[in-house]
Amino acid sequence: MRRLDHLLKRNKEWAAAITAEDPEFFTQLSKQQNPEYLWIGCSDSRVPANQIIDLAPGSVFVHRNIANVVVHTDLNCLSVMQYAVEVLKVKHIIVCGHYGCGGVQAALGDQSFGLIDNWLQHIKDVTRVNADKLKGLNSQDQLNLMCELNVIQQVKNVCRSSIVKNAWDNGADLSVHGWIYHLDNGVLDELVEAVTSN
Ligand code: CO
Repeated sequence: MRRLDHLLKRNKEWAAAITAEDPEFFTQLSKQQNPEYLWIGCSDSRVPANQIIDLAPGSVFVHRNIANVVVHTDLNCLSVMQYAVEVLKVKHIIVCGHYGCGGVQAALGDQSFGLIDNWLQHIKDVTRVNADKLKGLNSQDQLNLMCELNVIQQVKNVCRSSIVKNAWDNGADLSVHGWIYHLDNGVLDELVEAVTSN
């Protein structure tokens, strides 16, 4: 049986529970979205944006990819950023990495995984730039530090994007944040102090 009836059933129960609490919730939300946050995070199933910051539908615009990478030639990520900043006028961009990131771990090794190796090159570049900080650490500490350094680099990439630079040049009230999530206790830490201008 390939049907996903159990998920559709859960969905109906979920929608009914929200409607019971707030009968206007979905009708109001269907008219427009007005999120204050853009979340750029990892695709990892254990790091779901809305759930870990405990926000309802309508509150967060989300882009996720393997290892929360922001690449200046990635039209997908750039389009999300442009729409979020210029149309939705979000006030905050949150780059959120997580400890134990499989994408970062793969980038630290030499094993080939196929097409994804090309994507992981962006993280390997971060490794190369930070080689002296990683030298001498055991593999667990290297992974932890690289998960952090990757977030720091991606925050820089967001800030250097034409979209964010233009927004700041035009006086937009926009902050860029770098966070990291602990898979083992569900807690977020701030890694980078909020960047608010060029
Ligand atoms: Co990850």
